[in-house]
Amino acid sequence: MNPHWTPESWQKRQAQQQPKYDNPQELADAIRRLTNLPPLVTAWEVDRLRTQLAIAEEGNAFVLQGGDCSESFDDCNSTSILRKLKVLIQMSLVLICGSKKKIVRVGRIAGQYAKPRSADTEKRGDVELPSYRGDIINQSGFTPVERRNDPQLMLRAYEKSALTINYIRALSEGGFADLHHPENWDLEFVRNTPGSRRYQQLLESLSDSIRFMEAVSAGELTQLTRVDFFTSHEGLLLAFEQALTRMERNRGWYNLGTHMAWIGDRTRTLDGAHVEYFRGIRNPIGLKIGNSMEPDELVELIGILNPENEPGRLTLIHRFGAEKIRERLPRLAEAVLKAGQRALWSCDPMHGNTQTARNGIKTRSFDEIMSEIITAFRLHKELGTRLSGIHLELTGEDVTECTGGPGNLTESDLARDYRSQVDPRLNYEQAMEIAFLIAEQMK
Ligand code: PEP
Ligand code: CO
Repeated sequence: MNPHWTPESWQKRQAQQQPKYDNPQELADAIRRLTNLPPLVTAWEVDRLRTQLAIAEEGNAFVLQGGDCSESFDDCNSTSILRKLKVLIQMSLVLICGSKKKIVRVGRIAGQYAKPRSADTEKRGDVELPSYRGDIINQSGFTPVERRNDPQLMLRAYEKSALTINYIRALSEGGFADLHHPENWDLEFVRNTPGSRRYQQLLESLSDSIRFMEAVSAGELTQLTRVDFFTSHEGLLLAFEQALTRMERNRGWYNLGTHMAWIGDRTRTLDGAHVEYFRGIRNPIGLKIGNSMEPDELVELIGILNPENEPGRLTLIHRFGAEKIRERLPRLAEAVLKAGQRALWSCDPMHGNTQTARNGIKTRSFDEIMSEIITAFRLHKELGTRLSGIHLELTGEDVTECTGGPGNLTESDLARDYRSQVDPRLNYEQAMEIAFLIAEQMK
């Protein structure tokens, strides 16, 4: 345990990307209420994820982490949650069949409500208002009332996370998640495409294998009736994270608002508040690594975040872009190897490949996303490290936010059904195609 650490010790450091609240009393009241509410997850679940991540780090499992760039309160409904779960379960099946490995499923879900922004304000015409920072902080509508930072929204975010996690738990425990009934994961809008036919074929061969195994073992394979599904979000809003940090007797401090949290690329300053907060919790944590990370800095950060060099503790999520990865990853991976530091390497092929389309809409190209993934597999192999995870922004909906992929979406298609308030996500078809391509890489 860290003698000089407390859940509040981050407050003595510089905290980037925090909202300014205009009423300290209201903020203190919201934090006090949150601190008294029950946890959303348990330390046993958190430790189970950590054990599974340690297995992935060794190369015996693969991590599929994905979900919205930013969840919205309005999307806390059965259809939206169900579709996200369906696409992640379907993708994990494709990956299992390709890799013959266990897949660790981690949603960007049930708490992914705070966003870092490049500017503090947004200007439309002559009107300038505070930027939208996610539903836990303010609202996306462009009026002064909606853009006010409101501490009450932290309580709403806690409630929405609780509702989401409750539904996910119920679904993953049985019935819905039973591998004997993959038809439960069908999505009503899926067209008869080569991708969907490939998925159906995969299911048929899987069903054959299950029937075979059950025949020779003379009974139902009961492990197949449920799935493990974990939650994660960016631990950005430190007052909120602090309020959900609880002492588990004899085990230490856990963030019991989520199973896993990560530090964003904009808030990973060595002596900053986020690194201070994260070093003290027992959860498995992620660290986003963008193009400005230097080898020495990374080694120092790992030293602070995982001083005992524990397996499963730290996931390094790199996000360089399809081209830049060639130059950036080798220097960092070599430095980490040389320092003898252990970590799970994961690739986020989304955030280094964001572009603005001609019509001004933020988008990402499917081909660049795929290219970064393929390069990541190759480079890690050459470097003697291992790519053990993928981190995606995706949705189970039929949206038009990224270009390319099986539906060949072009820039002019983007306006048709663009719903993200923040970053563009892979739609269902694109996400499944990525799963097949990753499975191919892992064979
Ligand atoms: C994100 O994951 O949505 C994000 C903001 O990423 P990064 O910190 O890598 O920019
Ligand atoms: Co994003």
